[in-house]
Amino acid sequence: MKGIIFNMFNDIIVTRFDEQTWEEMLENARVSGAWSSLGNYDDHDMLALVNAASHQLAITPQACLQWLGREMLPRLGGIYPGLLERFSTTFSMLKALNNVIHPEVVRFHPGASVPVFHYHEVSSHSMVMEYCSARGICSLAHGLMQGCSDYFNETVDIDHLQCRHRGDEHCLFRITIR
Ligand code: HEM
Repeated sequence: MKGIIFNMFNDIIVTRFDEQTWEEMLENARVSGAWSSLGNYDDHDMLALVNAASHQLAITPQACLQWLGREMLPRLGGIYPGLLERFSTTFSMLKALNNVIHPEVVRFHPGASVPVFHYHEVSSHSMVMEYCSARGICSLAHGLMQGCSDYFNETVDIDHLQCRHRGDEHCLFRITIR
C-alpha cells in the first residue's frame, strides 16, 4: 500500500487524538512509522496498524477501517488537487471510480493497486456496488462512500448487503440517496 495512505492514517490519528496515541499505535503494531509518500509498503503493516488502532480505540477492525475511509476522503482531495472538484454528487463520484479516479491515482502514483467496482441495478437514486479486491478491505470502501456523501452534503443510506467476510461470494453495497 502507498505511503500516502500510511501518512493519512498518521494525520487522522494525530488530528483526532494526539501524537502520543499515534506513537503507541506504532509501537503496538511494531511498524517503523517512516513512509515516503511515493513508496510502496507491505499491506501487513497497514493491517497491523488497523489492529493496533482498533484495540486502542476499543472498536472492531472493520469499524476502524470504515472510520478511516470516511476521514480519508477529504484528505485525498488535498493529495490530488482538482480531482474531487470535478464531481458534484456522491453518485457521479462513485460511478467515476473505475474509469477516472483510480486510473488518475495510478498515473500519479505508478504501482498503486486500486480496487475494481462493478455496478448493478443503477437508477437515478439507488445502485448496488460490488467491491472486488484481493485486499478484502471492504469496510474502507464503506467509509470512503460515506466520505463522499459528507463531501457533497448528501444524505445517503449504505447497506452492506453481502460480504465475503460473512461467507458470501461477493461484497455488495446498496447506496441509496434519500
Ligand atoms: C475520489 C477520490 C479518491 C482517490 C484520490 C482515491 C485514491 C486511492 C489511493 C491512492 C489508494 C491506495 C492505492 C495503493 O495504496 O496502492 C486507494 C485505494 C482504495 N480506494 Fe480509492 N480513492 C478515491 C475514492 C475512493 C472511493 C469513493 C472509494 C469507495 C468506494 C475508494 C475505494 C478504495 C479502496 C477500498 C482502496 C483500498 C485498496 C483495495 O481495496 O484494494 N476510493 N484509493
